[in-house]
Amino acid sequence: MTWLCSFWRSSIGGKVTMAVTGVLLFGFVVAHLLGNLQLLKGPDAINSYAKMLHDLGALLWVARIGLLAIFVLHVVTAVRLSRANKAARPVAYAREATMQASMASRSMVLSGLSLLVFVVYHLLHFTLGVVHGGDFAKKAAGAGGFDVHTMVTSSFANPAIAVAYAAFQLVLFLHLSHGIQSFAQTIGFHHGRYTPMIKKLSFLLAALVAGGNVFLALSVQLGIVKGAA
Ligand code: HEM
Repeated sequence: MTWLCSFWRSSIGGKVTMAVTGVLLFGFVVAHLLGNLQLLKGPDAINSYAKMLHDLGALLWVARIGLLAIFVLHVVTAVRLSRANKAARPVAYAREATMQASMASRSMVLSGLSLLVFVVYHLLHFTLGVVHGGDFAKKAAGAGGFDVHTMVTSSFANPAIAVAYAAFQLVLFLHLSHGIQSFAQTIGFHHGRYTPMIKKLSFLLAALVAGGNVFLALSVQLGIVKGAA
């Protein structure tokens, strides 16, 4: 345990922690998007998907607690690394590249904290049903807790909610596109030859994930997904 703590406190340990927790969170966001895309297939598909998750019982709670722990570790390590970077640089930047790297890491902290705000809002909205009057969550509860279709479509029928969700995805895009590049660097892909390819790939993956979420958020407004009558 002491060894693990010392590793986490080291500069390389911090970077490895960010990479591993980042990949796991990315996996969650992709899986979550794939699950949510069931919305396009209609109420039965998304509601049975929600029921299948719920039927996992204790296993679902293990996954939720694991996800929370990974999330907390990712945030705490990011804050520690950013403080250590600042402390290690008492004088002005000598090189532009160093300045750019620092700006990028500051923007990661900012976009990461904005995502934290989004996740809290999102949980208050769909999971706990305490914002937007809790109306949507109550509608879902009416159908035994599995009418996720009505909950989501009646939320996104409100243009303000749909636009707020879509706007947050821009932050997700910025965070992922830079995060994937940092990950590639941590695992050793920092040869100049690979950089343009890694940049393009990070951009593409981030655009697919964030774009998929924007598409879902706007699907009701665009008339692609119809709410329950
Ligand atoms: C338009 C996009 C999205 C839709 C339609 C959506 C929908 C949902 C729904 C229906 C739930 C389940 C609520 C419940 O019954 O407990 C949920 C939970 C959750 N969502 Fe999303 N979500 C979206 C985007 C995101 C994004 C981008 C993130 C992360 C950055 C995220 C993180 C979570 C988390 C952490 C949970 C809780 C999981 C759990 O309690 O098992 N969601 N989302």
